[in-house]
Amino acid sequence: MLRGVARARCGSNRRGSHSHSWQSRKNVLLRYFTIADTVSSRLATEDVEVGGASIKAGEGVIVSTLSANWDPAAFKNPAELDVERGARHHLAFGFGPHQCLGQNLARMELQIVFDTLFRRIPTLRLAAPAEDLPFKNDAVIYGVHELPVTW
Ligand code: HEM
Repeated sequence: MLRGVARARCGSNRRGSHSHSWQSRKNVLLRYFTIADTVSSRLATEDVEVGGASIKAGEGVIVSTLSANWDPAAFKNPAELDVERGARHHLAFGFGPHQCLGQNLARMELQIVFDTLFRRIPTLRLAAPAEDLPFKNDAVIYGVHELPVTW
């Protein structure tokens, strides 16, 4: 997620603007990266139809929250990373009775980290091209293996 933050800061022509805090920006990053995709799984307790697909009672379903968060019907230009436009109704923490139990802690941590980090080190930036960063494409939780930075 830090990679996205660094890139978003480098790419934004509103870099110096304080009109939005990380309170709303973090929602965009949570939506865009959806770092815990397919960890939401459910068992149908009755026959149900979802988006034209029929699911029988007893069948298991693995939910792609990334797919939901990149649905153009829900988010305009979902592949565009614009931290200023908000994404309050994203599904990065899942949905329903089993949605992420730690989401309030995670939201608070992200906000405090980003607010503090960029206030304390305003010149913080990537020390390598974003395209060269090694990604965990084979793990359950998405992220980078390493993130070289400079300031
Ligand atoms: C950015 C950080 C995090 C993300 C993106 C995330 C995402 C998720 C997702 C997608 C689920 C599945 C929800 C569902 O099935 O509908 C989940 C479940 C869960 N998460 Fe997180 N999580 C994060 C941080 C945390 C933290 C910090 C804690 C604990 C301190 C935590 C505890 C849990 C627990 C206990 C569940 C299982 C809830 C249940 O099955 O009822 N998570 N999380």
